[in-house]
Amino acid sequence: PPLRYRPEMLADIPEERTYFLKQYEDWFTVETPELKKITDHFVKELDKGLSKEGGNIPMNVTWITAFPNGCEEGRVLTIDMGGTNLRVCDVYLPAGRRDFEQTQRKYKLPEEIKTGSGEQLWDWIADCLKSFMEDKRIEPPEGEKFSLAFTFSFPVYQSDIKCGVLQRWTKNFNVTGVEGHDVVPQLEVALGKKHLPVEIVAVINDTTGTLLASHYRDPHVKVGSIFSTGCNAAYMEDCKNIPKLQEQGLAEDATVIINTEYGAFDNDRKVLPLTPFDRRIDQQSVQPGTQIYEKMVAGLYIGEMLRLVLVTLCEEGKLLQGQDITRLRRENAVDATFLSIAELDISEGLQDMRVEFEENFSLSPNMHDLKICRYLISLISKRAARLYACGIAAICKKNNALKCHVGVDGAVFNKYSGFKSRASQALREIFDWPAEELDLIALNPSEDGSGVGAALAAALATGCESKGRS
Ligand code: GLC
Repeated sequence: PPLRYRPEMLADIPEERTYFLKQYEDWFTVETPELKKITDHFVKELDKGLSKEGGNIPMNVTWITAFPNGCEEGRVLTIDMGGTNLRVCDVYLPAGRRDFEQTQRKYKLPEEIKTGSGEQLWDWIADCLKSFMEDKRIEPPEGEKFSLAFTFSFPVYQSDIKCGVLQRWTKNFNVTGVEGHDVVPQLEVALGKKHLPVEIVAVINDTTGTLLASHYRDPHVKVGSIFSTGCNAAYMEDCKNIPKLQEQGLAEDATVIINTEYGAFDNDRKVLPLTPFDRRIDQQSVQPGTQIYEKMVAGLYIGEMLRLVLVTLCEEGKLLQGQDITRLRRENAVDATFLSIAELDISEGLQDMRVEFEENFSLSPNMHDLKICRYLISLISKRAARLYACGIAAICKKNNALKCHVGVDGAVFNKYSGFKSRASQALREIFDWPAEELDLIALNPSEDGSGVGAALAAALATGCESKGRS
């Protein structure tokens, strides 16, 4: 049978060199009816996560009960421990202007820290904060401390905003002695050793920070999402829809931000169209059986997905014939940037791709290899974008927010060209928007969740609002 989407770029390659791609198309193509089915199941799973019994998706209560109103003010230090970097910011919120000033610095998380001991991790973070404060000469008035907001982008259980018990590591982290513990006292010990004049006032997730920061600028934003090393989203929920909060005696009309942690969607493997490559990625991950949805879409895994596909095809003699693929065999040797560079390469000779192959893997692909590889990349990333759309669609559908803005942060979303339009196209299909209609749910790039978003959370937590202004 002919390839379903046989694109221009494969047109001049003889059929006998591309017939096998049909199988890959079948594996990686998610058609509209399947997107709809996944979204509907996703809606049920989001609800299940709010129930007393719980489900796959944690739906963590963040205790942030209102959006910022623009009156927040003050100076806050923030640290954001993401999957790849630690970002430290000094943020100043001037009341009444929905604006902010900040200085920031990024520190690359050393690989060994991700799998070391808790003490090493917290000491390293405290070191980064110390050097930031020294370099920028940040000192509080005598006897005072700065409020510190901690963006910890992992699933935590919170009994209030000032604490966070790590449920489990995700994104292939495996730091000992932290799971099941509150991260705040652990970090406090490290900050204390360095005599840093700071006080942790809020622990938030990166999606919560993104939601707060993007809603601050655009009140139409109803969902904050991250598409980066990991993938997740947060939104504001009515407490009356959260059975697991029922005994808390909350006001009838109370609301609270839920950090969904929906990377864990379909851990029981009911609807997602898993390929043999997805199963391999899960098996070789630090925590098999967890974050099944995230492993199909997020930046940490799409490079590895491509690598596994390429190695398989090389072993079957269908690609890079006669070449030494030793370097390509290294686990995680391909990252998401490789895919993005390849898709951006519109040069006649696919020169950028060629250079990437040469420099990273000492491989010299011929033109057919390059075109086939690029086609495979488009299949993998298109699937990621389309499945990503299901999570966003599910939150919007569940909340009857069928016309709203979604603030999205993260390197894959913001730097991978074509990702946004693929995800938007999938939303269009899921909701059957008429062709002439603009995007009713608009995915808008958002930044500064970990700076201003975290600072706003700190201001909300400490009640730092200027009086009498709006
Ligand atoms: C993982 C984490 C989650 C985070 C996301 C994006 O899914 O568990 O907390 O929001 O990655 O960084």
